[in-house]
Amino acid sequence: MSLLGFSDENKDMDSWVFMCFLLLVGWWCWWFFVKEKKKIEKKCQAIIPKGNLGWPFLGETLEFIACGYTSQPVTFMDKRKSLYGKVFKTHILGTPIIVSTDPEVNKVVLQNHGNVFIPAYPKTVRDLLGEFSILQMNGNLHKKLHALIGGFLRSPQFKSRITKDIENAVKLTLSSWQDLDIILVQEETKKITFQVLVKVLMSVGPGHDLEFLKKEFEEFIKALICLPVKFPGTRLYKSLKAREKLLKMVKKIVEERKIAMERSDDKGNIKDTVDLLLRDYGETNEKQSLPLDSICDNIVEMMIPGEETVPMAMTLAVKFLSDCPVALKQIIEENMELKRQKTESGDDYDWADYMFVRFTQNVISETLRMANIINGVWRKALKDVEIKGNLIPQGWCVLASFTSVHMDKENYENPFHFDPWRWEKTGAAVNNNCFTPFGGGQRLCPGLELSRLEISIFLHHLVTTYQWAAEKDNIIYFPTVKMSRKLPIKVKSCRNSTTTNDDDD
Ligand code: HEM
Repeated sequence: MSLLGFSDENKDMDSWVFMCFLLLVGWWCWWFFVKEKKKIEKKCQAIIPKGNLGWPFLGETLEFIACGYTSQPVTFMDKRKSLYGKVFKTHILGTPIIVSTDPEVNKVVLQNHGNVFIPAYPKTVRDLLGEFSILQMNGNLHKKLHALIGGFLRSPQFKSRITKDIENAVKLTLSSWQDLDIILVQEETKKITFQVLVKVLMSVGPGHDLEFLKKEFEEFIKALICLPVKFPGTRLYKSLKAREKLLKMVKKIVEERKIAMERSDDKGNIKDTVDLLLRDYGETNEKQSLPLDSICDNIVEMMIPGEETVPMAMTLAVKFLSDCPVALKQIIEENMELKRQKTESGDDYDWADYMFVRFTQNVISETLRMANIINGVWRKALKDVEIKGNLIPQGWCVLASFTSVHMDKENYENPFHFDPWRWEKTGAAVNNNCFTPFGGGQRLCPGLELSRLEISIFLHHLVTTYQWAAEKDNIIYFPTVKMSRKLPIKVKSCRNSTTTNDDDD
């Protein structure tokens, strides 16, 4: 009995253990089910954004281009934003694409944590920039090159040195205006910025080589946005030929510099970008370093801002100031004061003198906000990405639109009004999601400070040297931002004068 009793007790124990085990398994199944359900629900919540893919093949390209030719290209985005929300899908320029007009979504795309996005440029651009282009690089090599170039261009030593070169280029160009009846600002500013950039990149000064580079570069850049047809006589073909000539000359310069460097074993100051990249080439082993061809590709692609972005920012600053006499008066007063101080002290201008003229910097910020020279960036998703409930499926392109954010009244009061004073309150912080003329995150433009410095120096000498009257002209936004008549102006010298344009009127 006692044995029986013992075995009965054992049986009870067994059934308890079994019951507990069942409960545990049940609880675990329930927990697992709830967790998975939450995961599935979350995945289902992220949906491909709403929108219209338009006509087969054409998509909504015609409307997109038509809006680009109006004074408010942002209407294409605005219309869809009001129909589908801040993130929508469309089909433009041959690609189905998700467009983001949301600053927070744009921030995630630009930061690119986990490297889920890669740049996505049209085939013509990829062909022209070459296989080693920084704009097409990814991963560690990109990180390294970006840091190298950014560190060099941002360093105070570089800015100190380049200030004199910029001043010389600006003064040379401005002095040639005295004899001209009409000045086309868009053309004249290119002379300044191309010369400066070629100096920054390869230390090539004015002369035959610079002229050759400028001529071939102008031919090369024409095909940046064109039909992808490549046989003799086509635009793309001619531009690729110009690229070959450019590369030949750049390669000669790079090779000569490399030989000179090896001979002298010079470890002194880095004077330009070729020096910077070659030094890296020499210091690391072959596997980690940039091949010579890559250095040449990078040098050629970095000439683009000298011909496109910086001169356009200068031109548009002149345009907006011409249309806003109050701002013009204030920028003249500020710069006349700086000039007076410098004349009295007898000191040379330092880069910081130009960078810390407050109102001038506000004019530059407002110009960059309204001009949207780079209207947004294109990326491709390497895997499904969810941002703020929007699913960007693997293989899709996403356009982070800067124009939409810059011209949204949620972000800027009266966004179509040129108002440099708005920056007095906010400042133009680099980490401001709503102000991204230079992009952001991993690919934040390394030429940001150099651009601001060049524009500041140009504006300082322009407003303290001349008074001007601009003829009527319009901004065109497609395929790139341009003035339809290259902004013709007539100038009158105001040297040694303290009167302003406004006073003169
Ligand atoms: C007003 C003038 C300029 C504007 C508006 C501008 C704008 C931009 C933007 C938006 C990007 C980001 C592209 C992307 O994320 O795909 C970029 C990248 C870049 N910019 Fe600029 N830029 C200007 C001037 C310059 C100058 C003067 C240089 C100097 C050489 C420069 C060199 C570069 C380079 C090398 C990159 C590629 C960075 C990378 O992918 O890591 N830019 N720029």
